[in-house]
Amino acid sequence: MSKLELHHKSVMCEEVLSILNPTDDCIYVDGTLGAGGHTRRILEEADCKVIGIDKDPVAISLCNDIKANHKNNFFTVNGSFSDLTDHILTLGFKKIDGILLDLGTSSMQLDSAERGFSFQYDAPLDMRMNQTGQSAYDIVNSLSENSLADIIYYYGEERSSRKIAKAIVNERKIKKIKTTFELNKIILNVKKANNKKIHPSTKTFQALRIHINNELKDLYNALISAEKVLSEKGKLIVISFHSLEDRIVKNFIRENSVSLKKYNSRETEKTFVYESRKVLKPTEEEIKKNRRSRSAKLRWVFRSSLSLSKLNSSHNFSNYGGVKC
Ligand SMILES: C[S@@+](CC[C@H](N)C(=O)[O-])C[C@H]1O[C@@H](n2cnc3c(N)ncnc32)[C@H](O)[C@@H]1O
Repeated sequence: MSKLELHHKSVMCEEVLSILNPTDDCIYVDGTLGAGGHTRRILEEADCKVIGIDKDPVAISLCNDIKANHKNNFFTVNGSFSDLTDHILTLGFKKIDGILLDLGTSSMQLDSAERGFSFQYDAPLDMRMNQTGQSAYDIVNSLSENSLADIIYYYGEERSSRKIAKAIVNERKIKKIKTTFELNKIILNVKKANNKKIHPSTKTFQALRIHINNELKDLYNALISAEKVLSEKGKLIVISFHSLEDRIVKNFIRENSVSLKKYNSRETEKTFVYESRKVLKPTEEEIKKNRRSRSAKLRWVFRSSLSLSKLNSSHNFSNYGGVKC
């Protein structure tokens, strides 16, 4: 394992393993491979297969050791989990016994200064997980003041969004905004630190990252794919790190699942089953060892026996609390 890889501590690993219960001959999808922490543990538990998906080509290359150790059981896809169904079919699989989504960015992405995700390091504005398409530099220097304000408001839940967007547009009339530190400075001029817990730039940086990486729509598409590709009793486990993601997962589960008690007592019209509505959180001990785990929320369900052809309901992004700007 490389230094970078060791740097990322997998969140709620014990909980994931206990829910997933890796079993010989089963096929699992790790939709957010990252440094491969969860995948490594799953492959150690049983003679099973794991398909590891990540948008970031760097993440895939960090998992070369897994390929070496589990040649016939580990498959990688450099792509988005929103295309889960296609990836699985391309690899020649039809049904999957479990899907894990450990959302957001990895420590490697946040702490690699040159990736431009963090206001803690001076670097070119980038924030692209897949390293293609529009970067934070493009967005910040080209979008209208209104569009920027909407992104910062809806994806960052930032009350000062209009002021920040105005300051960005004023600044770029003078010169292009090229770096994380330049953007941070603009935000600090508008928004004074009044709360020791949250840095004034946190929400704006989060908003830009969500927009650039299409994070909410990707999540929605992955949940719908999970409904298609999971076999009966196959588990869907999602770990989210902020309220926008968690809302989509929570609403999706609420709309599409029944309790285990009801499921056992009569035929269901829902595609998923929950054992408990309670959201799982990391233990105090884990939070002490890994501060980044502190905002994690884990929700999980398993696939019911209902076939999709019998399904009456349809999905709607905004009904699940999704916002698109
Ligand atoms: C929190 S890290 C996962 C860490 C991993 N579970 C581990 O234990 O090392 C999230 C990863 O998901 C990837 N990611 C985020 N959105 C994605 C998407 N739509 N499709 C595929 N990968 C995505 C990021 O590039 C990042 O590497």
